[in-house]
Amino acid sequence: MSTAGKFFDWNIYQVYPKSFKDSNGDGVGDLAGITEKLDYLKGLGINAVWISPCYKSPNVDNGYDISDYRDIMDEMGTTADWEELKEGLHARGMKLIMDFVANHTSDKHYWFEQARSSRDNPYHDYYYWAEEPLNDWQSWFGGGSVWEYNPPTGEYYMHTFAVQQPDLNWTNPKVRREMRDIVDFWVSKGVDGFRCDVIDCISKDFERRKMADGPLLHDYLHELFGRREVEHIFTVGECRTDESTILATCGEGRDELKCVFQFEHLDTGRSDKFTRKKPDLDGLRAVLVKWQNFTQSHNLPYVIVTDNHDQTAFISRAGNDKKLRYESATMFAAMFYMLRGIPLIYQGQEIGLPNAHYDDISAFDDVETLNYYREHAGTVPPDELMERINFGARDNARRPMPWSGGKNYGFGEGKPWTALHSRGGEINVARDLESGKSVYAFYRKIFELRAEYECLRNGKFEDITPRDGCFAYQRRGENGRVVVVCNFEKSGEIAVPDCGGLRCVLSNYGGEGRTVSGEYAPYEAAVFVGVL
Ligand code: GLC
Ligand code: CA
Repeated sequence: MSTAGKFFDWNIYQVYPKSFKDSNGDGVGDLAGITEKLDYLKGLGINAVWISPCYKSPNVDNGYDISDYRDIMDEMGTTADWEELKEGLHARGMKLIMDFVANHTSDKHYWFEQARSSRDNPYHDYYYWAEEPLNDWQSWFGGGSVWEYNPPTGEYYMHTFAVQQPDLNWTNPKVRREMRDIVDFWVSKGVDGFRCDVIDCISKDFERRKMADGPLLHDYLHELFGRREVEHIFTVGECRTDESTILATCGEGRDELKCVFQFEHLDTGRSDKFTRKKPDLDGLRAVLVKWQNFTQSHNLPYVIVTDNHDQTAFISRAGNDKKLRYESATMFAAMFYMLRGIPLIYQGQEIGLPNAHYDDISAFDDVETLNYYREHAGTVPPDELMERINFGARDNARRPMPWSGGKNYGFGEGKPWTALHSRGGEINVARDLESGKSVYAFYRKIFELRAEYECLRNGKFEDITPRDGCFAYQRRGENGRVVVVCNFEKSGEIAVPDCGGLRCVLSNYGGEGRTVSGEYAPYEAAVFVGVL
């Protein structure tokens, strides 16, 4: 098998720990809460768990502002809880992937507290400093310039994200050494992989005015991960990617990252983060086909992802999350998770959890959302502004996970840190599992099929879509093939070429008698297996 396919049998589940399960009733999700749910995840077919940051943090950006990389956030538990989680995973044959936030620290990190105190402090050079703002770059979270004045030194420091997230100066070899030690620390504790936060930001190009993807990115990544000691671990980079960057980062023999996310398809159904646009599913298909063909032809890995903690629910943007919620959630599940690549799903996705809805801004917590609200409050009419907030807020992905219809929807005993999901009574794990239309059962079946059919892991991807309004593809392996047919929102006839000898193994409209070609209902999806 090629090295690209090395992780094609990992089925990864992302946990946002603060919102997953509160084990001790203080209203905040924690590590022991994740440990409680490991059998639930195992039952779904998950064999790797990525947890968003659980390190010490003042929580300006929910843990993406780290004040101690080697310790656990008070709200999340203790190092002993972390060990128990790791042991619990490993005992079940599951992997643990941690978040690695290398571009910035918290302003409460010891390094920054030292660095900002005086110009000749030994830690000063751990960050970027300038006498005057070097440029007009704006923070990605809104709120103005990336340059913030620091009175004790009379200089400005750079923060790509919140003011409390100063960017580390990776041109300083000491910083690179520190970050390497942190990687080694967690690997020696038994971590199986890292999701590398905004990793292309670690190299900046001030001359050519690029905030990310600077000239030294590949040197830094190679120095960090191109070492025998960490050869075996899984790494996935969060970065904006074009073809050449992907090749340069995880192409054969690069020894940088094992894979990177590709997010182009996530723009389906929006013109920008906070504004809706009619979803163009034919366009979505074209994007997926493009990246499948590209990664396959270069023997590159690909991560299959539709949802994460920074995105609103994909089904709410691209599908119908009201009357046809089950149908669209499962159609997208079939459409994405039979592709060539490494499946990654986000908490709540397995029950078709859509966006929530609130009338008041007090239900929102995210720093990016609140900045957007503040900046538009004077100019955008209030109703429209709340519409945009409900549509685009990252809070959508961060509502306490609804486990049942009971108190706090089963999240925990105490009052949750943020508003419960507005649809948690109607949509929760317990209800989904009891339902004849269980999204969880559909995902479980997908993972079973991926385990059973070799062609779903290593087979070739081929687009066989006969017309617009649908997506049909096949995966062709050594011993057989799988054909996936997904109809979009309008019912109609789909005539798939060359489809004899196939048997339906999964369908979201009741599979018996489902033939490959024929009439398809709105968001109907079916999966067929057969010989070559
Ligand atoms: C990444 C994370 C996001 C975080 C940001 C700053 O985009 O996914 O949640 O706010 O980086 O660390
Ligand atoms: Ca708790």
